[in-house]
Amino acid sequence: MKALVYLGSGSSALENRPRPVLAGPTDAIVRMAKTTICGSDLHILKGDVPSCQPGRILGHEGVGVVEVVGPAVTAFQHGDRVLISCISTCGKCAYCRRLMYSHCTSGGWILGNEIDGTQAEWVRIPYADCSLYRIPDDADEEAMVMLSDIFPTAFECGVTNGKVEPGSTIAIIGAGPIGLAALLTSQLYSPAQIILIDLDDNRLEVAKRLGATATIKNADGRARERVMELTGDRGVDTVIEAVGLPATFELCQEIVAPGGTIANIGVHGTKVDLHLESLWDRNITITTRLVDTISTPMLIHVLQSHKLDPKLLITHRFKLDQIVDAYDTFADAAKTRALKVLIEA
Ligand SMILES: NC(=O)c1ccc[n+]([C@@H]2O[C@H](COP(=O)([O-])OP(=O)(O)OC[C@H]3O[C@@H](n4cnc5c(N)ncnc54)[C@H](O)[C@@H]3O)[C@@H](O)[C@H]2O)c1
Ligand SMILES: [Zn+2]
Ligand SMILES: [Zn+2]
Repeated sequence: MKALVYLGSGSSALENRPRPVLAGPTDAIVRMAKTTICGSDLHILKGDVPSCQPGRILGHEGVGVVEVVGPAVTAFQHGDRVLISCISTCGKCAYCRRLMYSHCTSGGWILGNEIDGTQAEWVRIPYADCSLYRIPDDADEEAMVMLSDIFPTAFECGVTNGKVEPGSTIAIIGAGPIGLAALLTSQLYSPAQIILIDLDDNRLEVAKRLGATATIKNADGRARERVMELTGDRGVDTVIEAVGLPATFELCQEIVAPGGTIANIGVHGTKVDLHLESLWDRNITITTRLVDTISTPMLIHVLQSHKLDPKLLITHRFKLDQIVDAYDTFADAAKTRALKVLIEA
């Protein structure tokens, strides 16, 4: 089968690989229909994810059709159309029982990282009963692909943890796929103001189209001032950090209102300062989270009721044969204006 393989030190290639086979009783083999590329895949290519070793088939998102299941799989059978979660979940360990699937002691984010992933014609999914979701008959597969990772991530780490409420004011720093998914899912709660902050004019324009009440280009050091102007000098009730840089986490601390919440989504690779000297008396909450994907069933329902349109984030479409071009397009988003690229197997 064709598969996109990580080769180490910045490179990857479309290679021929043997089709995966069942390795345990809870496994399913899924024939891929559609997949996509995540910012985390780019992190792997840069060598930022040591758990992912050269030779690994990348990808942790997608939809497909169940080919065969192990003897312990009871929820799925041959022919079922399924959504693949980016998080594999045993459903039984202490973390899974607390709904912290991302910390599953034998699962978590392993797909396309510690085990072969979805950017291929076939994939082996461990703990299939808990790690796959049935796709409703009339569901749009392209929209579903967005529910493998970015929508649960934005919703759980950003909107839920950030306690977005009707009438509240929120700022989202970072208008990449995750920040934009936070913009879309936060609107399920009717906040009064949603301010999007980014450096990229195109992404800010998209944010405006998708419901941002204001956008700020964070290029002149005046973002804090602008947020204060927009909020009557109060700051915002919820700040969602969807970048992962020290400077953007600093900005979160400068614009959170008393009683507010900073919900961090961004992956931080370097030390970040926490300004307790100015925050100690402001009754704020800071949350961190690795996506658990516990919201996936709910998001499928919301998508089915047309209250959410994840397809708005798909900008490009490719065939699996063209996946190297898809990576180039996704990686050069400033020029190509890419958000999510859809890849058909
Ligand atoms: N916590 C989790 O479970 C989880 C899961 C998936 C992704 N993530 C992380 O979420 C973050 C966002 O992911 P993404 O795919 O949208 O990334 P992305 O790189 O596409 O988007 C980041 C955006 O931040 C903007 N940006 C960069 N510097 C900025 C600055 N100084 N001020 C304002 N904006 C700035 C960029 O222009 C870009 O639009 C990443 O750090 C990613 O690793 C976390
Ligand atoms: Zn991802
Ligand atoms: Zn578990």
